[in-house]
Amino acid sequence: MKIIGTGSALPHLVVTNDDLSKFLDTNDEWIRTRTGIQSRNILSTETITELAIKACLDCIKNAKIDIQDIDYILCHSVISDAIIPALSTFIHDAIGTDCPTLDLNGACTGFIYALDIADSLIKAQKAKNVLIVCAEEPSKFVDWTKRETCVLFGDGAGAVIVSEGGFDSKIHLKTQHTDALYCGANYGNSPFDKQEMKDPFLYMKGRDVFKLAVQSSKKDIDYVLEKAGMTYDDVNYFLLHQANMRIIDFIKEQFGLSCEKFPHNIEYTGNTSSASIPLLLDEMNKNEQLKDGDVLVFSAFGAGFTSGACLIKWGKN
Ligand code: COA
Repeated sequence: MKIIGTGSALPHLVVTNDDLSKFLDTNDEWIRTRTGIQSRNILSTETITELAIKACLDCIKNAKIDIQDIDYILCHSVISDAIIPALSTFIHDAIGTDCPTLDLNGACTGFIYALDIADSLIKAQKAKNVLIVCAEEPSKFVDWTKRETCVLFGDGAGAVIVSEGGFDSKIHLKTQHTDALYCGANYGNSPFDKQEMKDPFLYMKGRDVFKLAVQSSKKDIDYVLEKAGMTYDDVNYFLLHQANMRIIDFIKEQFGLSCEKFPHNIEYTGNTSSASIPLLLDEMNKNEQLKDGDVLVFSAFGAGFTSGACLIKWGKN
C-alpha cells in the first residue's frame, strides 16, 4: 500500500486560549503547559460534511488522480450531520464517483482502522485506489462549560488516497477495556424505551487516558517495527495522534529519540480526533518535508480504549 495524495480542511474560525478564558475559568498558561495547545479551529458557519468534501477534493487534486479511478470511499467520523445516510455518501455525491462508500467509528484511532481496511480491500483486489477521509467535530460533543475537556479539542478533516503497490505496510490494532472515555447518545421518542437519559457530553478520566496512551502507543509502535524487522533508528518520522504535547514528549523520551522525528501541529489544531494524523501528514506533504522512501510510523489511541499503529514507506512508487 502507498499513499499517493493528501488533503485537508479546517474551519475558518480560530479560537485561542484567551478566547476560551473569556467564558471559562481557564487561562493560556495552564492550557499551554499542560497540553501544548495555543489555538484550535472550531466549526461555526460551516458543516462537517462541507469540510470533509473540501478535504477530499484537495486530496484528489494533490494525488492527480481521475475521480473515476477511486474504487472505494472510507469515511471516519465519530459524529456527523446525519445518522443516515452515512457521511461518505454525501462525499460520493459531491465529488461525483460511482464507487461504494462506508463510514467507520474507531474513535481517535479511526485513521489507522481506515488504513487497515483500505489495505485489506487492496490486497483482496477489490480496490486499487481508496479515498480515506477522517472528518471530526468534537466541538459538538464536549461540554463547553467543562474546562477539563473542551479546551483540548478542535475540528478538522484530513484525507489520503491509498493505492496498490509500494511497501508491504505493517498495521497493528488493539482494543482494551476501560471506562476512561465515554460519550452517551439519546435517540428518538420510543414510548417503549425505559432507559434513563444519558449525559450527551464527553466524560474523560484525563490521567487514566494519559497513562493508557503512553503505554499503548509504545507497544503498538514496537509491534509494527518488529513485524517490519526495523528499529526506532530506521524510522524517519513518528506521526503520533495529536492529543497532548506532553504525551508526545513522553513517548519520544521513552524511545530516546530526537525531537525532529516527532513532528507536531497540536499547537494550532488541538486534538482533532481521527483527523489529527492525516492533517499533520498533509501539512508535511505540502511543505515538502517528506522524501521518497521515508519510513513513517502513525500511532493513535482513543475511546474504547482503541489504539493502533501503521508503518508505511512514503512515495508514489
Ligand atoms: N484550566 C485551568 N485549570 C484546569 C483546567 C483548565 N482548562 N482543566 C483542569 N484544571 C485544573 C483541575 O480542576 C485541577 O485543579 P485542582 O488541582 O484544584 O483540583 C488541576 O487543574 C489539575 O487537573 P488534572 O486533571 O490533575 O491535570 P493533569 O495534569 O492531569 O492534566 C489533562 C489534565 C486533561 C491535560 C491530562 O490529564 C491529559 O492530557 N490527559 C489525556 C487526555 C487526552 O488525551 N484525551 C483524548 C484522548 S483521544
